[in-house]
Amino acid sequence: MSDSLLVDTIGELVTNGPGTRPLGILRDAAVLIEEGRVAWVGSSATAPAADRRLDVGGAAVLPGFVDSHAHLVFAGDRADEFAARMAGQPYTGGGIRTTVRATRAATDDELRATVRRLRGEALRQGTTTMEIKSGYGLTVADEARSLRIAAEFTEDTTYLGAHVVPAEYADRPDDYVGLVCGPMLAAAAPHAKWIDVFCERGAFDVDHARAILACGQAVGLGVRVHANQLGPGPGVQLGVELGAASVDHCTYLSDGDVDALASSLVDSMCHEGPHSTTVATLLPGAEFSTRSPYPHARRLLDAGVTVALATDCNPGSSYTSSMAFCVALAVREMGMTPAEAVWAATAGGARALRRDDIGVLTPGARADLVVLDAPSYLHLAYRPGVPLIRQVIRNGVPQ
Ligand code: NIG
Ligand code: FE
Repeated sequence: MSDSLLVDTIGELVTNGPGTRPLGILRDAAVLIEEGRVAWVGSSATAPAADRRLDVGGAAVLPGFVDSHAHLVFAGDRADEFAARMAGQPYTGGGIRTTVRATRAATDDELRATVRRLRGEALRQGTTTMEIKSGYGLTVADEARSLRIAAEFTEDTTYLGAHVVPAEYADRPDDYVGLVCGPMLAAAAPHAKWIDVFCERGAFDVDHARAILACGQAVGLGVRVHANQLGPGPGVQLGVELGAASVDHCTYLSDGDVDALASSLVDSMCHEGPHSTTVATLLPGAEFSTRSPYPHARRLLDAGVTVALATDCNPGSSYTSSMAFCVALAVREMGMTPAEAVWAATAGGARALRRDDIGVLTPGARADLVVLDAPSYLHLAYRPGVPLIRQVIRNGVPQ
């Protein structure tokens, strides 16, 4: 017997669907949830009857955040490295090997406990979907177990064996690429949906990155790329060439990179019109924590590129699980309007994961909702650092 829940007396409902653009806002609204899905959305005055009713008293409600980029399977932290950066040291990615050592030494249960803690932390802050990458194991066994553990918490798991070349392969990177494309991929693929490469000076060059991503595609994994984080480079255009779902970071972009992303525009049948096949996922927590320039979101948006926001939660470059913090940074530092930032943190993240069941509150979507302790989504950027998430509903279940 099905049990329905009416979330009622919503002062401002962000649907990311039809309604007042760009967020598809409805006022004085209600959402009917049945069997974990949105069954009906409309005016409170015409809401259908339900088994249970949750009166939110005029609060704002929005889709749960979709954090499409996070590295949660690791051990230890790098607070000292953060302190050194704040005292002027640059971020180079060199600390990744520190986390690799700690991760290899950890037990499965220690890794699982860290993922559970961070996933719970994010959920309490309104994140109802979270992608999780491997990338701190970098052996066949450690990448496979990282993904196995990640898969206990999300269906969006990403194989990042090509995070950096580990110390034991430092003088033979070709051999490491062979491992990543061979036995490591074979062990990782059963637990992974996506493949990712850190295409950057000091990590993997464009030829290695192309080879690795092509191997992943050949076994059915979708493509994502860490691109143009530390300097200009070929990663973004490689991602577009391969039809990546997302290129992530995009801190240093040339006109050619923006043009390439814009050229991936396709007409969508949905109400939002054209969008880019390859999403640009911006990770302002990383720029904050590495004291780097923020990406130019406005330039991408003006070119018509689809933009997502995500946390990049990891112990090195961005140890935050707060999507609201990323929204606030994007508004204050990256030229995004509050509406664009909230869309990017919800529907944009869903696009970056090629999912149409999340990031929207329209009939048929998964019933992932966040009730704010505020009358409007605007408060997410307007009241930075304030715990505004009053209630999270995931799969129709109040958390
Ligand atoms: O997305 N850039 C590569 N990977 C992570 C950082 C990893 C780390 O420093 O531990 C990132 O920023
Ligand atoms: Fe990352």
